[in-house]
Amino acid sequence: MWNIARVMRVLSGKSILLIVAGGIAAYKSLELVRRLKDRGALVRCVLTEAGARFVTPLSLAALSGEKVHQDLFSLTDEVEMGHIRLAREADLVVVAPATADLMARMQAGMANDLASAILLATRAPILLAPSMNTAMWEHAATQANLKSLRQRGCKTVGPQDGDLACGEVGAGRLAELSDILAAIDDGFSAGPLKGLRALVTSGPTHEPIDPVRFIANRSSGKQGHAIAAALAGAGAKVTLVSGPVSIPDPAGMCVVHVETAEQMLAACQKSLPADIAVCAAAVADWKVKTPAGQKLKKAKGAAVPSLELATNPDILATLSGLKKERPRLVVGFAAETQNISAHAKAKLEAKGADWILANDVSEGSGTFGGDSNQVHLITRSGIETWPRMSKSHVAQELAERVARAFKKGKKA
Ligand code: CTP
Repeated sequence: MWNIARVMRVLSGKSILLIVAGGIAAYKSLELVRRLKDRGALVRCVLTEAGARFVTPLSLAALSGEKVHQDLFSLTDEVEMGHIRLAREADLVVVAPATADLMARMQAGMANDLASAILLATRAPILLAPSMNTAMWEHAATQANLKSLRQRGCKTVGPQDGDLACGEVGAGRLAELSDILAAIDDGFSAGPLKGLRALVTSGPTHEPIDPVRFIANRSSGKQGHAIAAALAGAGAKVTLVSGPVSIPDPAGMCVVHVETAEQMLAACQKSLPADIAVCAAAVADWKVKTPAGQKLKKAKGAAVPSLELATNPDILATLSGLKKERPRLVVGFAAETQNISAHAKAKLEAKGADWILANDVSEGSGTFGGDSNQVHLITRSGIETWPRMSKSHVAQELAERVARAFKKGKKA
């Protein structure tokens, strides 16, 4: 039995932005608004153009007691409550029903209507309740979009199996409202890291040689981004400081984009205090001492330029060595090509980290840029070798370890 008193407490004062996309299940969003209001939430609704074919803005406005937003280019709306404000003021964004089309646009990072612009601009957690025809649901494109949205931290509920409005029987029915409400409740209730702040570095850094050339490395940011998403999923308030990567920002956290190691360190320092720091970035060890202000030209007969390098700050060592504001748990990575555990143990000591995740990045390991990773967790109490698993699985495993460590009040 759904415990109204408990839910009232959980949702009271919470702002939920409900995006209603165009599917036959859109009519169920009306009941969802009513149930969320009953539980004390402030509900603002965004109706897509297709959604408005199934439910009217008037019904949503009457039930939510709020103006319904439909148009990205409405001058009045932008003055009263612009799309960025709608995105920013939500504690949780719920998309119900989430259609194949809207999920595809989300996955691609499109912003061609109000709903997709909000989904791109929000830093709030996102809950998707998909609903569509079975063939559309099972299509490889929809499944790939879903996988990628989940990897970015979006939560999903449903769909269920059953009779569909199109006459087919199979997966694609919108989840039961009680399940959607339970997932919303979960989104607000305490994850094991609730109340803790986490800082994660990810991706490579680019160190300029001149305005068009730079020194970089092969890091994709996949592991660091997955860790940020897993920590956020466990309830931590996450700041992700990312070097230049081609993967999308995970949802539900603050993402700071940087280029150089020095910028990364400054962004990390600015995001303190934090309880947990995970340095997953492949920070360039060296920068060009004096980058050229203009593009270096290869004048005929001129000597090949030689680059004078200077040492970059070590972010992991700097965070570990802080006297004031040292995060309680500092985790580093060790990218090694040989003698992995010995080198990683030495790094744990040299950098003063609490834990090191050591991985094999030798040629043929498939770690850089790949989707899987094989790591050893090195703590002061020993070494554990984890089996090869997907980077998101490594991230989940790490988040669980972190949660256990904080529960015990210890670091390992
Ligand atoms: N690291 C960092 N700042 C740097 C260099 C590395 O924060 N300037 C962090 C990485 O994020 C990682 C750990 O230190 O958590 C180890 O990085 P790695 O590249 O394996 O080692 P290096 O310190 O660069 O040493 P080496 O290249 O000699 O193995």
